[in-house]
Amino acid sequence: MLTQEQNDALTRSSAGTPGGTLLRSYWQPIALSKELPEGGAPVSVDVMGEELVLFRDDQGRLGLLDRHCCHRGTDLSFGRLEDGGLRCLYHGWLYDVTGCCLEQPAEPKNSTFKSKVRQRAYPVIERGGAFFAYMGEGEPPEFPNYDFLSYPEEHLHAAKVLVECNFLQANEGNYDPAHVGFLHKTFESDRKPGLKFGYLHRVGVSETDVAEIEPEETPRLETEVTDFGLRIFQIRSGGAGRKYVRVTIFGMPNFSVIAGPQGGDGHIGIWHVPIDDYTHWRWHFALRRDAPLDATSRLRRNPGEYESEFKLKRNAANRYLQDRSTMNETYTGMGNNFNSHDAFATGSQGAIQDRTREHLATTDVALAAARRLMLKAIDDVKAGNVPQGVLRDADANDYRLLCSFDVLADENIPNTDLVHIIAERAAVTAG
Ligand code: FES
Ligand SMILES: [Fe+2]
Repeated sequence: MLTQEQNDALTRSSAGTPGGTLLRSYWQPIALSKELPEGGAPVSVDVMGEELVLFRDDQGRLGLLDRHCCHRGTDLSFGRLEDGGLRCLYHGWLYDVTGCCLEQPAEPKNSTFKSKVRQRAYPVIERGGAFFAYMGEGEPPEFPNYDFLSYPEEHLHAAKVLVECNFLQANEGNYDPAHVGFLHKTFESDRKPGLKFGYLHRVGVSETDVAEIEPEETPRLETEVTDFGLRIFQIRSGGAGRKYVRVTIFGMPNFSVIAGPQGGDGHIGIWHVPIDDYTHWRWHFALRRDAPLDATSRLRRNPGEYESEFKLKRNAANRYLQDRSTMNETYTGMGNNFNSHDAFATGSQGAIQDRTREHLATTDVALAAARRLMLKAIDDVKAGNVPQGVLRDADANDYRLLCSFDVLADENIPNTDLVHIIAERAAVTAG
């Protein structure tokens, strides 16, 4: 349970708020590469309550500016791409990608007014099929060298979906392992509730060993604080002398990494980035290490669940299209799509979950730990210190240990050793 003040600090994202300042201390995904191809039109992007325009100038340079012209506020996403910048349609002011005003054609010839105004501008870079922005103060930190953004393109897939609730409660679902066995459960005989394997590593056991898992066994949870956030171990018995361990990541302050069902060894980086305090984008960056991703893993697995490319059909207004006659097929009566289930569970908590009224239980140990880290980071930022997970040292840009995986292992091998062994294997695959 949190105080109202703590809940506000963690969930409010506008400029100048404690949580908004924390979120702005990190690079955040803001648009997919395919939304702004070479020669494409400027794109409106709404991030953390700010209305911005993303564009490439006529030389291909990337810019991210306040969408409202600093003259009298006209929307620059309609502007002209010419003369080394983006030109406002109202009176022709021209801005370059750094926010410098290059021309004010209606002003007197000898006016120096253009050097006195500046359009707000943020650094932006393209990685792994998306654009990332740094919206904080001062020099941007190093861009973290995550493998799910840096493998060759054919190993990666980037996507996003709109979620109609505050970003935090949706991200908390990523490190709330207990929900999987309920919310996402189906009653098909070949599916084990709570265990939806992607790729299973084996350490200290034979490559042919199968995991003998009790579907109803509640995993034991352990957490470990890392440079980037939190590592979460879910531990189950995997048969005599063995254990089944699933490792997932909470990354400061609004992302997660989860071993994914992408058909091979790999994982998925997930960001929840506020549009405003009541809606956000769930970003999804899938990596398959051992082979290129096949075409089907780039497609929505349940296309019928989507109203449009980035929007789910099920929402609060249509009661998530629950069909109670199918509750003998799925736990929810809301189909098979995990994103839809999560949209229901987190959306129906309220636009911003009231955490003054919750009762955290044993299975909430990871999300409670993540909140403590976020609150500490908010205090660090206030005190002028570098918060956890912000990378200022280029030599430390090594994220091999930021990996999520499933492993069947000899029960005597310590969990932290498993992380190093799997990370080494991933490095070998990367060559
Ligand atoms: S409002 Fe943009 S140039 Fe006047
Ligand atoms: Fe979920």
